[in-house]
Amino acid sequence: MALEFKDEAPTLEEYKEMRRLVNFMPLSDRICNNVLKNAFHITTVRDNGRCVGMIRVLSEGGYANFITDVIVIPEYQHQGIGKQMMRRTMDYLYSTLEEGEKIVVYLMSAKEREPFYRQFGFRDRPNELLGAGMSQWLEKPEK
Ligand SMILES: CC(C)(COP(=O)(O)OP(=O)(O)OC[C@H]1O[C@@H](n2cnc3c(N)ncnc32)[C@H](O)[C@@H]1OP(=O)(O)O)[C@@H](O)C(=O)NCCC(=O)NCCS
Repeated sequence: MALEFKDEAPTLEEYKEMRRLVNFMPLSDRICNNVLKNAFHITTVRDNGRCVGMIRVLSEGGYANFITDVIVIPEYQHQGIGKQMMRRTMDYLYSTLEEGEKIVVYLMSAKEREPFYRQFGFRDRPNELLGAGMSQWLEKPEK
């Protein structure tokens, strides 16, 4: 394996293929293009040129930072790649801070994935201060 970590977006086709391989919901090309174009920070991992993992951060460049699309394709899982991508992402977010500043980093863990994220300092919700976090799907049916 010749792993290469880079702070750059995958191509549209690479993104769609990685999502498919980890059974993430299919997205339209229009949405995928926006996702890749408008992210605040994306890290990808390549093995001999093949894109095998990624992480994406949404942010306004300030207070709220949301980590999403944490993906390592199945044949590369359990080799520490996810951990390295997460560390790189957290290091990057820390590097955006000036002295005395503080920001928040959110993520939504997949079910039973919480232990993976706890090692980077993420706290489960709800806790004594915060509620569980909430979400909903919005869908426009095809005609
Ligand atoms: C979640 C995900 C990104 C983790 O990526 P990964 O590269 O497998 O992560 P790591 O290898 O760094 O760590 C995963 C596990 O492998 C173990 N591990 C790490 N290096 C290892 C090694 N050399 N040998 C054996 N096990 C190892 C870790 O202890 C860790 O154990 P845990 O799952 O009990 O915490 C990956 O499983 C994935 O893409 N899943 C599908 C998509 C998904 O659910 N994404 C998260 C949405 S919230």
